[in-house]
Amino acid sequence: MQDSILRLESPTTDVVIKTHPFAEIVYWGPHLHHFSPQDAQSLIRPVANGRLDVDIPLTLMAELGHGLFGAPGIEGHRQGLDGSPVFRTVAIEQQGQSLTINAEDEHAGLRLTSELALDESGVLVVRHGLTNLRAQPWQVDRLAVTLPVSERAKEVMAFHGRWIREFQPHRLTLEHDSFVIENRRGRTSHEHFPALMTGTPAFGEMHGDVWGVHLGWSGNHRLRAEVKTDGRRYVQAEALYLPGEMAIAEGETLWTPKLYASYSAQGLNGMSQQFHRYLRDHIIRFPENKPRPVHLNTWEGIYFNHDPEYIMRMADEAAALGVERFIIDDGWFKGRNDDHAALGDWTLDEKKYPNGLMPVINHVKNLGMEFGIWVEPEMINPDSDLYRAHPDWVLALPGYPQATGRHQLVLNLNIPEAFEYLLERMSWLLGEHPVDYVKWDMNRELVQPGHLGKAAADAQTRQYYRLLETLGQRFPQVEFESCSSGGGRIDYEVLTRCHRFWASDNNDALERNTIQRGMSYFFPPEVMGAHIGHHKCHATFRQHSIEFRGLTALFGHMGLELDPLTVDEHEREGYRRYAALHKQWREVIHHGTQWRVDMPDATTQAQGIVSEDQRQGLFIVSQLAMPDYTLMMPLRMPGLAPDAQYRISLLDHPNIRLTGEGGHTMRKLPAWMEAPQTVSGEWLMQAGLVLPILDPETAILIGVERV
Ligand code: DGJ
Repeated sequence: MQDSILRLESPTTDVVIKTHPFAEIVYWGPHLHHFSPQDAQSLIRPVANGRLDVDIPLTLMAELGHGLFGAPGIEGHRQGLDGSPVFRTVAIEQQGQSLTINAEDEHAGLRLTSELALDESGVLVVRHGLTNLRAQPWQVDRLAVTLPVSERAKEVMAFHGRWIREFQPHRLTLEHDSFVIENRRGRTSHEHFPALMTGTPAFGEMHGDVWGVHLGWSGNHRLRAEVKTDGRRYVQAEALYLPGEMAIAEGETLWTPKLYASYSAQGLNGMSQQFHRYLRDHIIRFPENKPRPVHLNTWEGIYFNHDPEYIMRMADEAAALGVERFIIDDGWFKGRNDDHAALGDWTLDEKKYPNGLMPVINHVKNLGMEFGIWVEPEMINPDSDLYRAHPDWVLALPGYPQATGRHQLVLNLNIPEAFEYLLERMSWLLGEHPVDYVKWDMNRELVQPGHLGKAAADAQTRQYYRLLETLGQRFPQVEFESCSSGGGRIDYEVLTRCHRFWASDNNDALERNTIQRGMSYFFPPEVMGAHIGHHKCHATFRQHSIEFRGLTALFGHMGLELDPLTVDEHEREGYRRYAALHKQWREVIHHGTQWRVDMPDATTQAQGIVSEDQRQGLFIVSQLAMPDYTLMMPLRMPGLAPDAQYRISLLDHPNIRLTGEGGHTMRKLPAWMEAPQTVSGEWLMQAGLVLPILDPETAILIGVERV
């Protein structure tokens, strides 16, 4: 057995693989300091009575054909034949911490290529390629990546959500059978973010073993956490194919999306920090190495009411507030006066912009800001010139009526003329105007997506990637944001082609606290669009102070989502202050290490970002509801250098007043707020810092600086 045992290693995590006769991951856990291949013999299993007489491996492809009896990693057939493949390893190649395993089933006429790469960050990336070796097509019903997790990983965490409520975490204890996430909405979706975390019971932000996975794919997907009746556990993730959707012809290879996996012995923070580091090292690529500019996006300020004179006045005010990138949202193109019409007609609305876009663009640029614009290329309104000319360009199955969503349908990007039309129109927009940034929206799910009578959700997703990729190559200086009714298309694969996500259409600071925390498990702050919205939030009608809104947007890629001309000076002063605060700290926020802090009172949410050199740290404490206890619990500040001394300062806070003002709950402030204190990093990490008593829906910002 020794000969066939290989190890991939990283400073935090190791993966041990038995390669022959069938490839099987036998270990995925903490880095091993004293490993030798014969150690793996300790895991040669007994064979139990009452079941098959041989040991059944949980292979890389989890084939049912071995007698696995759990959810297999592959399902498909060749007109009913060749439907139970078993892959036997034929060749392996290891280069550093990357491994390619080739396996074949000569009876079924299939080859499996498995790629595993363990990154320095501790993130393991796995994908499989399935090649058809025979003349007749092989119908692929399912093709998944399967990863075994420890028998100790009894708890599962995942996210549910919906429009204006993305990334809501939930948990369950999984003792038997499986937990499944299935997404058939045709985009990554608000509802079923493609990730799963499993861990030792009650794993938390700072403690517990956690095995987290994310499938990099912007279409339909299925994820599963499964317990076999013998106690072995695994997670599985795949692109979900609609009936008849996927077949591979002779010589063709179908690759699974990449599965990104992060094991942490230090709870969820460790998992997230590894993912963040991986993204920063390998996936996030900004056209220029410059600070993320502060945005103003016009959507909630003016909606469809585009008047260039007024927009230029908004830009004047934005620049005065410290905004660095000005984006005009929906409403600039021909006939787009509300959301009933015009999607598809990507020419300028000359009634609104009689002199073209250039006067606005020049004005914005003369103010020293970048210019951005909104598009939604994949969509078509039945009330559009494009639809009137090409009703057959709709992504649909013939004979069935399509339900509109936001009065729109989806364009079939598999039709070459439709694809070329969009490419030409977008190239006109980006080629003839000095656009720096595109907010690329996608507001309808795919219903009966069909091309030439066959299901085509997967093909549509690939064409969307191709369109975005082609534009990215043609216009490498342009940054793209992935928006889909807010956070409906957020994943690692689209992030290889874009630079920012619109996390949610909900700018309510209270709701944003949960949404953004959820998103932070997989994404670092610099790609998370976080805007200060109106005093009275448009999504919920809740009202929040500028301090709560400002601090809530601080730990992201900050912006404003409003009309600065219609607010009073107090509000404007707030925008100015928070834009300045964000700029002052964005180097730390966008490059530092993020920590979510477990607070004993669930009504308090705390998180911090510590600079890589541990010289500076920022901690936000948000009080989401009435505190459970009379006193706030001390804030432990992770990530500091234990042997360093830190000066603590309160950088921003609501108007904290003492008793006598009505409604406020303190007679005396914590001592550190009265007289500056210097405390050791170790003490702050272990004992913590007592907090002032906060009212519901307020937040404070605490800074620590090494002395
Ligand atoms: C949905 C997006 O999420 C919003 O931010 C805005 O861009 C609208 N679409 C515009 O129609």
